[in-house]
Amino acid sequence: NPSSGQDDQRPRLHFTPPGNWMNDPNGLVFCEGEYHLFYQHHPFDLQWGPMHWGHAVSRDLIHWEHLPIALAPDEHGTIFSGCAVVDENDTSGFFGGGKGLVAVFTQHAERPQTREPLQRQSIAYSKDNGRTWTKYAGNPVLGDESVLDFRDPKAIWHEAAAKWVMVVSAGDRVRFYTSPDLKEWTFASDFGAGEGSHAGVWECPDLFELPVDGGAAGRKWVLMVSVGGDPDDPAGSGTQYFVGSFDGTAFVNDHPSDTVLWMDRGRDNYAGATWSNIPREDGRRLFIGWMVNLKYAGVTPATVWRGAMTLPRELTLADTAEGPRIVQQPVAEVERLREEIGRWSDTVLRSGAEWTGDASGNALEAVAEFEPDTAAEVGIRFGTAPGEETIVGYDARRGELFIDRTCSGRTDFHELFPCRHAAPLDPAERRLRLWIFVDRSSVEVFAGDGRLVMTDLIFPSGPNRSVALYSLGGDAKLSSLTLYRLA
Ligand code: FRU
Repeated sequence: NPSSGQDDQRPRLHFTPPGNWMNDPNGLVFCEGEYHLFYQHHPFDLQWGPMHWGHAVSRDLIHWEHLPIALAPDEHGTIFSGCAVVDENDTSGFFGGGKGLVAVFTQHAERPQTREPLQRQSIAYSKDNGRTWTKYAGNPVLGDESVLDFRDPKAIWHEAAAKWVMVVSAGDRVRFYTSPDLKEWTFASDFGAGEGSHAGVWECPDLFELPVDGGAAGRKWVLMVSVGGDPDDPAGSGTQYFVGSFDGTAFVNDHPSDTVLWMDRGRDNYAGATWSNIPREDGRRLFIGWMVNLKYAGVTPATVWRGAMTLPRELTLADTAEGPRIVQQPVAEVERLREEIGRWSDTVLRSGAEWTGDASGNALEAVAEFEPDTAAEVGIRFGTAPGEETIVGYDARRGELFIDRTCSGRTDFHELFPCRHAAPLDPAERRLRLWIFVDRSSVEVFAGDGRLVMTDLIFPSGPNRSVALYSLGGDAKLSSLTLYRLA
């Protein structure tokens, strides 16, 4: 129905704002059975503008209840990205000996003379599980006028050091500060000048510790940093990470400074962060990202809302020959939505031929295993209308996984959007395992159980209709395929 408007295009399991503009996830915290998701929000426009924190809660990371705006601009500036923590022991003194939520965020203003950005860190607290917030009278709690880009604080309670640690981006590096009470912050160290990728400004750092191979290979700290993107590189913005150690004061990179590790090799996963305060008995490290590229974030097709989050994902660290690497999987809660469409196994895909199945639905999951054999390319086409499809494939000659969204629907809003782009996938793997989620306006591919992830936006004219598997330049084997509708 062409007249039905953008509300029809809403993804079914990806978070979108009720209306208007959304960017980064903020304040991700679990408290009393609820996952909180705050987000950068312009409540009155489809474009980025004076930032507020929008708010939603969920009990399963899939179904979200929208709540009123949590934080609005004040005399210190607009409300940029940041985090939220549970102050269990009332270190802040806000909770009369009880516990509560404290948000730590950037306030963005302009310097009077130069009109350059003035970015300082502020806090606010909530005694009613995030429903209402009071800004601290002593705001801002941390400033440094020598840096223009000073933002996106992530605070964690560091057990061993028994103090709060904040990581905050500061131009071409991140800085670490410590505090006993979330109010007084002391500089500890910085990290990042000359390390990893500097193809753009550093933003939205996150810091957490994870077991390697479930603990069999010790534990490592991960420092995640979003990178704004090189103006000359079509890949645009993305999220890198470092693996190393952190003692409460300084981060030490395990790898040479020129090693660059990316979280996601698709075009559209930026400014992601992880939830704090996940109960010990759950123990997962849960991630969500803003599903867009800064190259075209402001011009994606939109009439009601603009901006969507990735699927919530669980992060683990796997030991590899090169060292520990992040593995991502969609959270297990997604499986509860499965309605099986069909299962197929041991099918030969003849070169040049297609195996086609009816797969209608707004949200689909495909779990496929191929043996490429002699084929030059194997893949899956997700068809949405005649001549309109998104392809996820494997180029066996180059050993690359790719997404092709050239004919995926609306692509004309930005020159970089229609494209086929690829990332190396371990050629040693004779079996190609792909786990794919298509949900109206996105495709997420987890390859090799989540060691390689590609996330892309798409803007098809309607829901998915068909799935076609193909092989080119030789025969391939489809070892197994399971298709689900997610509802
Ligand atoms: C990342 C970012 C953050 C900033 C926020 C402003 O997309 O630029 O660095 O806090 O968005 O909306």
